[in-house]
Amino acid sequence: MRSSLDLTRRGFLLSSAAALAAPPFALGQTKPHAASESFNPDVDVELVCKRDSVAILDGARTSVWRYAGNLLNGPANTLTNLPGSYLGPLMRFARGQKIRIRLRNELPERTITHWHGLHVPMEADGHPMSAIDPGETYVYEFEMRNRASFNFYHPHTHEATATQVYHGLAGGIVVEDDEERALGLPAGEYEIPLVLQDRSFDDNNQLAYWGGMHRDMFGFYGERILVNGRPDYQLEAASRAYRLRILNASNARIYKLRWDDGTPLTVIGVDGGLLEKPETRPYAMLAPGERLDLWADFSGRKAGSKLVMRSGEFDGLVPPMAQRMGGGGLIAGDDYPLFSVTVTREMSDSPKLPEKLSTFKHYRMEEIANRDRPRPIALSMRPMEVAINGRSYGHGDVMDIERAPVDTVQLFEIFHEHGGGMGMGGMGMGGMGMGGMSRGMMGGGMGMMGMMNMAHPIHLHGQQFEVLSRSYNGDDPDAYATIRDGLIDSGLKDTVLVAHGERIRIAKPFGDFKGRFMYHCHILEHEDMGMMREFSVE
Ligand code: C2O
Ligand code: CU
Ligand code: CU
Repeated sequence: MRSSLDLTRRGFLLSSAAALAAPPFALGQTKPHAASESFNPDVDVELVCKRDSVAILDGARTSVWRYAGNLLNGPANTLTNLPGSYLGPLMRFARGQKIRIRLRNELPERTITHWHGLHVPMEADGHPMSAIDPGETYVYEFEMRNRASFNFYHPHTHEATATQVYHGLAGGIVVEDDEERALGLPAGEYEIPLVLQDRSFDDNNQLAYWGGMHRDMFGFYGERILVNGRPDYQLEAASRAYRLRILNASNARIYKLRWDDGTPLTVIGVDGGLLEKPETRPYAMLAPGERLDLWADFSGRKAGSKLVMRSGEFDGLVPPMAQRMGGGGLIAGDDYPLFSVTVTREMSDSPKLPEKLSTFKHYRMEEIANRDRPRPIALSMRPMEVAINGRSYGHGDVMDIERAPVDTVQLFEIFHEHGGGMGMGGMGMGGMGMGGMSRGMMGGGMGMMGMMNMAHPIHLHGQQFEVLSRSYNGDDPDAYATIRDGLIDSGLKDTVLVAHGERIRIAKPFGDFKGRFMYHCHILEHEDMGMMREFSVE
């Protein structure tokens, strides 16, 4: 199936059936949010979701869906368009700013945008219930409460997130603050956003979203890597230190970042901003929705020298069935290039890597409301069904373990569930059994359920969390050894990769805002299949 077809048909069907497509909401607003007179924004931005075409490959232009930005009021550096890219403008905000974003829907179907990583009220979070029809505008108003960080905006439309992101709706948000400015990290032309995505193209250079049921079950894998929306991405650099701000905006593909000459990675930040101090790793894993802030020092390299960022080999995260989908030599878990850096200018001085980067609050056990009774986030997958705590997404379907009092910190344990209900007794789970499946089919290894073992990047909306512990007790430690050193848990996170066999404990704050906030797998096909739930913050 070719997506160019999908896209037209989908748009046609949905525009004529827009009223039917509107889910029947039990709660929440049904009218798009309008600008309020009492809100005095420091930044006022219009963001239009629309159809367009871009020259990506040689030959025919590629039809895309994209965000087009328009700065109505605010600092001139708020929006930066990435050259030749379908990606939305890079948005640059500062902590404390009052921000208004007017999202206008010029697509042929419903949409809504989520600011992944930002701590905002429910009305500004892009809840699927807030989706607007073609021709409508949704006005977001919020104050920037985040610390300096690199974030991700993308649609969060009910059952259409994967296709809308795939066709081009995605962008990055940089947040600045005083703590970070004082460090004097590489900035301006030395601070490079790098948005990683994989795409497939048909013979006509149109985006192909093929794979059918396989794709929905295991996620989409494209045959080409695009960086900032461009193929064969090359960075021309000076011989000095750079700051590379990397976002994995792929639907499903997990990367294992490594420099081709064996230079270790110097990690200075993750999803929720800077680490306390830099960390050196041989490689770093980057799952969909995650961000990585790298210090890349090209000092001393001669003009003409070249360095390649590759995705290295790994095992055990993607089922063999899904790995093969990529075809075209881009098999998930194989080694392949992502982008290259060529030194074109020699420079004699360069900023020094600070020894200390930032301070942030660590949670003490006494501060955690349920420290003796972690709330489960149990992940499960069966043919054509993905679930969290045994349930798939339903608007307004909230279990007791998903209710949290506002301004508390809650302990969660995230793990893969084998079969139904195991270890979940008494937690209010809807005990979904394994029906007629035999014990052998449920086990790991070669059984049918073994084929479904895959890692899930789990994302929680709202404030970033702290990873307290991660343990592995799976049946393939050799596979786990290929990723372990690339998992960075020392910073604040909003998305965490959970390999099969892992148990991860996180302390997650629910500060400031009551309402419904999503948590889900960031493999977008899984999100759309219902591997998503919501918290009710009360
Ligand atoms: Cu980046 Cu709920 O998503
Ligand atoms: Cu999010
Ligand atoms: Cu998943």
